[in-house]
Amino acid sequence: MKILICYHTITGNTEKVAKSIKQGLTGQDVTLTPALGVDPVDLASFDIVFLGSGTYAASVGKSIKKLIKSAEKLPSKFVFFYTHASPGSNKCFYRVEKEITRKNSSIIAKFECLGATKPTKEQLELMNPKQRENYNSLIGHPDEIDLENAKEFAKKVIVNL
Ligand SMILES: Cc1cc2nc3c(=O)[nH]c(=O)nc-3n(C[C@H](O)[C@H](O)[C@H](O)COP(=O)(O)O)c2cc1C
Repeated sequence: MKILICYHTITGNTEKVAKSIKQGLTGQDVTLTPALGVDPVDLASFDIVFLGSGTYAASVGKSIKKLIKSAEKLPSKFVFFYTHASPGSNKCFYRVEKEITRKNSSIIAKFECLGATKPTKEQLELMNPKQRENYNSLIGHPDEIDLENAKEFAKKVIVNL
């Protein structure tokens, strides 16, 4: 099966998850790349696309939105994966999902995990106790368990196709 894993990352968390997903897809023909390097015309040549992003202001990265918007033809199946700092944030793919379903493709599975933020020294100093507590709780994510979960998730996606 021809599989594309493409992602938008600013601080590297989502890229780590993307690499773990690839590890779960052994035996498949997998291309792993930032979304910025994907030609929209090529998208439809894949059987399935794993689309990943960090969450930025409750949305996904620009390269993901642009890729999906500009592709005339999409593959039939998408899988979303995303990292985020707020436990409740699960709407970052909202607009992209709408666009994908409008173009008659489907989202067959989703994976999410926490991703540590990387504030500057100044930003750290300005945090109030609650923000500091939240920041501390994210340190190390995605951790080994998150990455193992991502790998197992990818395996299951293929088994269940
Ligand atoms: C500019 C910026 C905006 C962010 N906005 C959100 C947000 O709205 N919700 C959230 O849960 N996390 C937010 N985060 C945290 C990131 O989603 C989280 O750290 C993620 O793992 C980053 O992924 P990346 O390392 O692949 O870029 C934001 C991070 C940055 C840098």
